[in-house]
Amino acid sequence: MIRKLVLSIIALTIIQIQSRADEGMWIPMLLQKYNIEQMQEMGFKLTAEDVYSVNQACLKDAVVIFGRGCTGELISDKGLIVTNHHCGYGQIQYHSSVENDYLTNGFWAMSQEEELVNPGLSVTFLKRMDDVTDAVLEGTTEGMEDKERNKVIAANIKAIKEEAVKDTHYKAVLKPFFHGNQYFLFVNEIYKDVRLVGAPPSAIGKFGGDTDNWMWPRHTGDFSMFRIYADKDNKPAEYSADNVPYKPGKHFSVSMKGVQEGDFTMVFGYPGSTYQYVPSYHLEMLTETVNPKLIDVRTEKLNIMNRYQEADPAVRIKYAAKNARISNSWKRWIGENRGLEILDAINKKQKQEEAFVKWAKVKAPEYVDLLSKYKSIYKDYANYNLTYGYYREMIRSNGMELVYLASQMEALKAIYEGEEVNEDAANAVKAKLVERAERFFKDYYKPLDKEISAQLLGMYASNIDKAFQPEIYTLINSKYKGNVEKYVDYLYKKSIFDDKDLVLDFINNFSSKSIKALEKDPAYVLNNSFETVYTDKVYPQLNKYRSELAVLNKDYMAAQMKFESDKVFYPDANFTLRVSYGQVKGYTARDAVYYKHSTSLEGIMEKDNPDIYDYRVPAKLKELYKNKDYGRYEVDGSVPVCFAATNHTTGGNSGSPVLNAEGHLIGINFDRAWEGVMSDLMFNPDQCRNISLDIRYVLFIVDKFAGAGYLLDEMTIVE
Ligand code: ARG
Ligand code: ASP
Repeated sequence: MIRKLVLSIIALTIIQIQSRADEGMWIPMLLQKYNIEQMQEMGFKLTAEDVYSVNQACLKDAVVIFGRGCTGELISDKGLIVTNHHCGYGQIQYHSSVENDYLTNGFWAMSQEEELVNPGLSVTFLKRMDDVTDAVLEGTTEGMEDKERNKVIAANIKAIKEEAVKDTHYKAVLKPFFHGNQYFLFVNEIYKDVRLVGAPPSAIGKFGGDTDNWMWPRHTGDFSMFRIYADKDNKPAEYSADNVPYKPGKHFSVSMKGVQEGDFTMVFGYPGSTYQYVPSYHLEMLTETVNPKLIDVRTEKLNIMNRYQEADPAVRIKYAAKNARISNSWKRWIGENRGLEILDAINKKQKQEEAFVKWAKVKAPEYVDLLSKYKSIYKDYANYNLTYGYYREMIRSNGMELVYLASQMEALKAIYEGEEVNEDAANAVKAKLVERAERFFKDYYKPLDKEISAQLLGMYASNIDKAFQPEIYTLINSKYKGNVEKYVDYLYKKSIFDDKDLVLDFINNFSSKSIKALEKDPAYVLNNSFETVYTDKVYPQLNKYRSELAVLNKDYMAAQMKFESDKVFYPDANFTLRVSYGQVKGYTARDAVYYKHSTSLEGIMEKDNPDIYDYRVPAKLKELYKNKDYGRYEVDGSVPVCFAATNHTTGGNSGSPVLNAEGHLIGINFDRAWEGVMSDLMFNPDQCRNISLDIRYVLFIVDKFAGAGYLLDEMTIVE
């Protein structure tokens, strides 16, 4: 009896913990329906309408998509935004040179005139969202063929989007949720004049570098600041000296109150993609096939890059962003595999699947064979998926750069191959390619690219199925006896694509006669040889599996929702605005190791090591530390730096505002803790933590370190 009681108490607390669990990336317009009650129970003081509303200014008006893959937020009524240092990294690097090394030294505009213009950078505001499921599915019927159904849906989507933004300058985005069981429309407004206001030196903004990346405890001051400009009517406009700072409908108040363990936190941003509802076969594919191989390729790329970057400061700058990009997913994959293994995730999924099938047999026979269908697809899909991933590593994702540049000429070739050449179109393409080539050579270092190319060609040959080996290996094996270095020597000697002047000339003077020369260039030949394998052998199969999986995913998603009908499901991330909420909290990392929830300047000084590049503390910061010159940012004799919380976040959430119970800004989200990076596939409330920069550290750096305290005057600071 007593035992039963104890057990039911345990069961009860488990249920409570579960309903408190912090998993989930919720839809802002549905908070009222699903979340607000729980959020308020956890301490949140605002209403759902304060977060998202179409009738009044609300928190969502202060959140933007920054560039293409990050989040940012408004912190003044003059268009000032803050995001991560790693989100503004490309821009900071773009303005950097050995003479003006903003990556190393930081940059601060001391007035609006000094702010730097960033071609191509934009920020996106969400004006409103709508559930358009019925309209999207209109005209589809139960027994319809998938092809037919997709056609109807595509036509509906096109019409809905057009209608939504008719006669406006808005842009419409329409995305499937729950794998096509629901659809939402997003009406966006995009601002294109976004200027760099400030960034700390990398020794603060990237402190700990790739050594500390994806890790807690963390001491990275990962922020940068930009300003949105608009035309005189506050509307989006291309860059112009006449533009004026944008006046937002809403900006966040910045809180100096700080965080205590257990405090409510909310992250409001754009999580990119998650895979919460995939079958166990997907996890098997990642952990056994795809992740290990791709990790290996990137390990080699990074070894080579690091060596060249350490040897030459100019190369260090050129490859800074590329290196960070490669390293980031590389390390995440390692963490993901580790996390899934420790969670015993495959086994857990398999158990769920067994229970699901048992249920389906009795209650929903139409779903009984979903899992066996998955099984038969993943059996071959895994290999195609790996090959595709490897191909991207070879030519795209900073693989053989020279070959990638050559591949870009395809657009010109296509134009000049036609019967009649449209000169305007040709010139437009030329202008684009010239711009691309100039950017390419700004950040190009040939010896490094050569070495990586040889390495990659060797690895591809030994890691990828015989069936997918491109024709070029016949040449490599016959003429160069399999010696990839020799082949690469020839490649670089013969190709024009490693020479900026030749390339620019080639593009500018391109005509129908140039096609032959292009087709003879060995870099183009090499690309073509890979391209052929992909278009002929990989893409078609891959696409076939993907469309089959899309249908299965849709059904399996619906089935899982029926199977666990009293659970509230959240949709996988799809780079749409979401709310995650949880609390500030430490965690047990491993046996006997408990990590507290926050870090401070003390930890930066503990890590300080002039011999380790990632751990060099700037002299000015050391001086502030020595003199305890902390001003109003002092807390318990130090300055707070980062904190950990239980919010469910993923890539894309970087730069997201982290808000307290009052809806004030307490931090900027930038990462996750190592033990929990598998949260894209399976969330573990005990160990999954998002990492945020404490906003007080941001203010401290801007004010005390950079001497740009004038920026604080624009902010609404709540003491
Ligand atoms: N891991 C973080 C995110 O996924 C930060 C990445 C930037 N930092 C780096 N060292 N690469 O984006
Ligand atoms: N660092 C990631 C980002 O850039 C966030 C994450 O994956 O947790 O979006």
